Amino acid sequence: MIEVLSVTAEVYPLIKTGGLADVAGALPAALAQSGVTMRTLIPGYPAVMSRMTSGREVWSSEDLFGVPARLIAGRVEGLDLIVLDAPVLYDRPGNPYVGPEGWDWPDNWKRFAALSWVASELGLGLVEGYRPQIIHAHDWQAGLVAAYVKYGPSATLKTVMTVHNMAFQGTFGAEIFPQLRLPQHAFSVEGVEYYGGVGYLKAGVECADVVTTVSPSYAAEIRTPAFGMGLDGLLNNRSATVHGVLNGIDMDAWNPATDPALAQNYTASTIQQRGVNKRALQEAFGLEASNGPLFAVVSRLTWQKGIDLLAANIDQIVQAGGQLAVLGSGETELENAVRAAVMRHPGQVGLVTGYNEALSHLIQGGADVMVVPSRFEPCGLTQLYALRYGCIPLVSRVGGLNDTVIDANVAAMQADVATGVQFAPPDAHALGDAIRRTLALYADEKSWKKMQRRGMKSDVSWQASAARYAQLYASLIGVTTDDNPDH
Ligand code: ADP
Ligand code: GLC
Repeated sequence: MIEVLSVTAEVYPLIKTGGLADVAGALPAALAQSGVTMRTLIPGYPAVMSRMTSGREVWSSEDLFGVPARLIAGRVEGLDLIVLDAPVLYDRPGNPYVGPEGWDWPDNWKRFAALSWVASELGLGLVEGYRPQIIHAHDWQAGLVAAYVKYGPSATLKTVMTVHNMAFQGTFGAEIFPQLRLPQHAFSVEGVEYYGGVGYLKAGVECADVVTTVSPSYAAEIRTPAFGMGLDGLLNNRSATVHGVLNGIDMDAWNPATDPALAQNYTASTIQQRGVNKRALQEAFGLEASNGPLFAVVSRLTWQKGIDLLAANIDQIVQAGGQLAVLGSGETELENAVRAAVMRHPGQVGLVTGYNEALSHLIQGGADVMVVPSRFEPCGLTQLYALRYGCIPLVSRVGGLNDTVIDANVAAMQADVATGVQFAPPDAHALGDAIRRTLALYADEKSWKKMQRRGMKSDVSWQASAARYAQLYASLIGVTTDDNPDH
């Protein structure tokens, strides 16, 4: 078996703000079938600590970046966790990154430097009987792992850096550098230095042995200035080590045949029973019972997600006899734009703010169309859940959305391969056209059902991608997955 330590700021089902949690939560089980043992290092936020009641302390210190800390190991929800319990850093309300008022915690640099430092020490044998061969770091919060390893004493420990979103880079002023426990020469272009300050994601992309991102299209896009957000040059320099590995989904947690959050379970052959979920969904969002197409959104309401493009098209949806249900929260302006549409179209447009995992499942099981009009999308998971649930994805043609949805153009419809609708460029006009196309497709009940069934049968599992990660790990430590003896 290959021993890998995954380092992440969130993991489903303990703590989640977005797709990173889903991926970090699903990867260990998916990899187990490919000869990889994965443990997960995560900060001890209140939501995590409350689940660690039966864990055991495996390390402690009075001075982790100036604060007391300990590591608790335990198994929760099938995950092998190592939790960094440092109350001064993590025992706080709010989500992993921001306080209750929505502002970034001012000591985020320290909270995640500490996490990354501990990860690299675990790689050096901090805890007796445990020594991972590879550390797999996710996003900027774990970006420094690769720097600690590169400037540390081990010649064999390897690192993988996965970029889930180039838009969040973790950049801080140069004044934090002396406190990072790195040698002075790490403050350089080959290390953590980034435009005169410290860049955590930059450090990871620069120093990791392998860099991955979450879809092949995004792997190509981030090598251009428009998507690279300042790191495109570096990614081009390292192009041989940059790989796009598509996310999969947890096929058990997201299974319409067994999902307890649905009003009615169903399969591809009983797809007409989705109607029961549609009614339940209409009720949950205060919508009238209607057989018109029900469009839905489950998303952070942010510029990235193109919610303004949708807001500009809501009247069109309603005028055509459609409805819209939006679950999400985020930027005030975008929330207000949706709220204004609810006021204009009572009973036809509904908004539920806040985070609601069960409702997100019901939406997948009851809505007709899942709208994902992102300006950029590293992978995107909601369109994958939609495919699995027979909800037709309507997506912009970017990143992982491009790689996972087959547009219902004439050729694809004739060849019986279409699974959704794509539009480009990501602007309100092109989305308007795509909505009109979707409405026309919906009107042809028979071919719509065929498209739903095709989606439900498309492979959105982790199988192929877990094998790809396993292959990357194996190549790093000089074995092939096939001659790995324990496999
Ligand atoms: P991102 O990570 O960029 O937000 P993804 O599509 O990869 O986008 O993942 C989003 C995840 O968060 C999905 O599991 C989606 O169902 C979930 N999600 C987003 N907003 C909400 C919400 N308001 N309530 C429940 N789940 C949500
Ligand atoms: C990020 C991206 C999203 C991706 C998720 C999991 O949050 O925005 O596209 O699906 O990470 O990789």
